[in-house]
Amino acid sequence: MLRPPPPTTIPAPARPELPRHIGIIMDGNGRWAKRRHLPRVAGHRAGVRAIRRVMEACDDAGVHILTLYAFSTENWQRPRGEVSSLMRLFEETMDSEVEELDAKGVQLRVIGDRAKLSPRLRHKVDACEALTAHNGGNILNVAINYGGRSELVEAIRELASSGVDLRTLDEATFSAALYTAGLPDPDLIIRTAGELRVSNFLLWQGAYAELHVTETLWPDFGPSDLNAALGDFSSRRRTFGQVAEPAGTAIATPLG
Ligand code: FPP
Repeated sequence: MLRPPPPTTIPAPARPELPRHIGIIMDGNGRWAKRRHLPRVAGHRAGVRAIRRVMEACDDAGVHILTLYAFSTENWQRPRGEVSSLMRLFEETMDSEVEELDAKGVQLRVIGDRAKLSPRLRHKVDACEALTAHNGGNILNVAINYGGRSELVEAIRELASSGVDLRTLDEATFSAALYTAGLPDPDLIIRTAGELRVSNFLLWQGAYAELHVTETLWPDFGPSDLNAALGDFSSRRRTFGQVAEPAGTAIATPLG
């Protein structure tokens, strides 16, 4: 499994009630385009503009690790023209954005099975990761040809063939065999365009993520939607399977 280089630093959120790491299932590009009588690729292009806005909004809010689900292992089954448009868009966007990302101190990492990507795209991915590897202010993971199930199977195969005794395998060793090795798990997973499912995204890493689903289509997603998701997140009581503090013991209730 080819992994991005390990993160140089793990940026902390600006405030403890913020998520350290947000994952986003960017859905609704096709519906956005259809409503405008545009080809689906116009929706994907508008989706790239939304990524820029959301990265800025995350930075402003003080959230520094973002993982975007750009292309799943299942997305190859889309019409050939749409797949090649998306692949071209990944290449173009890397070309046009990487220098600015670097200047802003963003470390770009691509997670997913690269073997199926074209040699040209693979080469760009490698070059972008190498250019930004020294950055530590913000981490942007882009999931391309990513599938949670295949990530898990691949990790087990790799551990077995590297001689690890699977009978004594522990969670930390297993986590270190995933694409996200060294990163904290996502605290919050946002899904746009209303579907209530995780679609093979960060299956292991998202075990305790809070889910926020919005009807907003990805190309329309902006700072106010992000702030709504952050507000929702900060109102959740995260117990990680344990017993929550009994009501009234954590916060003194003002009288009157
Ligand atoms: C889902 O919407 C979206 C995708 C499968 C592609 C997401 C890709 C981008 C936003 C471009 C990313 C670019 C870079 C460089 C990371 P959909 O097409 O399934 O929408 P629908 O459900 O409304 O049809």
